[in-house]
Amino acid sequence: MKKITGILLSVLSVCVLGACSGNANGPAPTSRAVETEAETGQEERAEETEKDEEQEESRETTRAGVENGQEEGAGERQDAGERTGENGEAKVLVAYFSCTNTTRPLAEYAADALGADIYEIVPETPYTEEDLNYSNSDCRANEEQNNPDSRPEISGSVEGMEEYEIVFLGYPIWWGQAPKIICTFMETYDFSGKTIIPFCTSGSSGIGSSASNLHALCSDTAVWLDGARLEGNTTREEMAEWINGLGLDITAE
Ligand SMILES: Cc1cc2nc3c(=O)[nH]c(=O)nc-3n(C[C@H](O)[C@H](O)[C@H](O)COP(=O)(O)O)c2cc1C
Repeated sequence: MKKITGILLSVLSVCVLGACSGNANGPAPTSRAVETEAETGQEERAEETEKDEEQEESRETTRAGVENGQEEGAGERQDAGERTGENGEAKVLVAYFSCTNTTRPLAEYAADALGADIYEIVPETPYTEEDLNYSNSDCRANEEQNNPDSRPEISGSVEGMEEYEIVFLGYPIWWGQAPKIICTFMETYDFSGKTIIPFCTSGSSGIGSSASNLHALCSDTAVWLDGARLEGNTTREEMAEWINGLGLDITAE
């Protein structure tokens, strides 16, 4: 009996000890608990993977959006290019000379409205205020205008002039004529077969014989349109209107 009681006590103490072990840190994991934990871990990892994938997808979408945006931008640039001759219309250049910034904005409006290239005729030696002081008979501008052989040098050049079919030519009136640097420009390039549209600004004088005198300096096969003297405060819209009224196969917008 003593022996049986001893055995029973031993069994009981093993059970009690077994039940207590691990209590300090929560229940000892059963195999089901391990499984559940493994499953939870897998679920968490699966959720994390899903989240990662979603984030990656969203990054992809953003990148695609940027790329599409760039492609759309490129499309818009191409449209502008198409207006300058890549799609059948004539390629247009707006060339201009401007010392006191009256002609410049008009040239910029024209180029912008046409999606055309723009080229500023820049003198090798810039004109100072004194050079332009026409009330002084000896000023540089007056001396140049009085000398038929004067050809002030131009700094830089037009790239690929042969590609342009239409050239808008803007300049100020100096003593009733185009400044002599415009003569330099006309004699520098071959304008054969090109259409040239002169436009000028002035205090009050009209375009007069300035355009026909320039015409005489270049190829007979260059086609000169009448051109116009425009007010210094001509707006972009007025510039586009003037261009669209020329009857050319180009549209200023
Ligand atoms: C040397 C010189 C001569 C000029 N001669 C005339 C002229 O004969 N008639 C006129 O109306 N304006 C004349 N002007 C004024 C300019 O044509 C006018 O200010 C022009 O809009 C300037 O253009 P820009 O600012 O683009 O250089 C002359 C200006 C200068 C500097």
